[in-house]
Amino acid sequence: MICADVDGAKIERLNAGDIGIREDGLAELVAEGLAAGRLSFVVGAAAALKELDAEGGPVEVVFLCVPTPMGVGGVADLSAVEAVVEETRDVLPLGCVVVNKSTVPVGTADHTAELLGRDDVGVVSNPEFLREGSAVHDFLHPDRIVVGSNSSPEAAERVAALYARLGAPTVLTDAASAELIKYAANCFLAMKLSYVNAIAELCERLDADIADVTEGMGYDKRIGQSFLSPGPGWGGSCLPKDTHALLQVADAADFEFRLLRATIDTNTRQFQRIVDKIRLAVTGKRTGPLSRKRIALLGLTFKAGTDDVRDSPALAVAALLRGAGARLTGFDPQIPPGDPRIDHSFIDVHADPYAAAVGVDAVVILTEWPEFRTVDWQRMAASVGGRIVVDTRNLLDRDVLRRAGLTCVGIGRSS
Ligand code: UDX
Repeated sequence: MICADVDGAKIERLNAGDIGIREDGLAELVAEGLAAGRLSFVVGAAAALKELDAEGGPVEVVFLCVPTPMGVGGVADLSAVEAVVEETRDVLPLGCVVVNKSTVPVGTADHTAELLGRDDVGVVSNPEFLREGSAVHDFLHPDRIVVGSNSSPEAAERVAALYARLGAPTVLTDAASAELIKYAANCFLAMKLSYVNAIAELCERLDADIADVTEGMGYDKRIGQSFLSPGPGWGGSCLPKDTHALLQVADAADFEFRLLRATIDTNTRQFQRIVDKIRLAVTGKRTGPLSRKRIALLGLTFKAGTDDVRDSPALAVAALLRGAGARLTGFDPQIPPGDPRIDHSFIDVHADPYAAAVGVDAVVILTEWPEFRTVDWQRMAASVGGRIVVDTRNLLDRDVLRRAGLTCVGIGRSS
């Protein structure tokens, strides 16, 4: 198998076995593939096809796994898909299948087939449902495989056969349905999270406990226990992008998707709600000034188990706090001091949580890193002037904090 990318430096690193991201089990898989000579990395998609051809080919399946970032107005930007189709259309071997793995608007399979202009090449949509941090596990243990094609059901079956030994339910469908399944699934997850965050807010007003409420909801098999943890809002490189993209898809189809709009709005409001919670905890007033208050943020990545800060709710909350005049320190197990992705005049990142907490008015837990549970909270308590911890993930043991003399403000429950 040959993997191609436009970034020469990345290819060089990959060929040296450096995968450059935190992804459990991936470095081992790549090392194994490189050592066995089953895997290599080259610059350029056309070059990859040529090299495979020279090795004796034939190339049967070409996966497009390019980024489709949020473009102007929330529309998915397809320029990387178009560029790679342009680059390969004249060098694709006769009768091969082009598989789109990227999350793309409905209609992209047809658009790709048109751009290719090759009747002999089948175009198939095969969305991925991998979570960052557990992508290898998710790939090997999929809940389902989705394969869609308009022009070539035979090509779709060839692609489905590649996954046969994983034993997952397979949905063979048309291209539009396959493309929509990906958006519909991600947006449903986002909706579930916005719903839980709204129920958590209601719990606070009604003196109910969100942990018990979600446990009671989750035993209903139609709902399930997963994706029911309240937090500072949902983020990452997929859910924000895909919710906006589906809104655009709906708009273009002349459908006003109010439920999805409310899902996004609820999330944006959640960031402000967390800031209001911190404000009340630190100043004792709903409108108290945060200017010159010192706040330590524990967790900067968009979730635990990754080093990714793209569209991180932690950074959205940080931006609002800074806007209100607060001074921020931070710690994250995956973000070293000096990490170029964080503006250090914005958040002063430290190498350990104790250094981040020196002299602060409050500590705020923003990412659910399990190691925050085992922080020495007695030692932290000696530094935190305000003696307040705002736990936006309901991660910490409140009794441990209480014994350390700290007040813990959670989410969706009385403190
Ligand atoms: C998501 C989808 O889960 C995956 O199927 C798709 O292929 C890519 O997008 P990922 O971006 O890795 O995966 O993040 P995910 O694990 O879904 O979490 C998204 C956000 O929701 C994070 O900010 C996370 O902290 C938050 N979250 C998740 C909660 O707040 N509570 C939960 O119970 C679960």
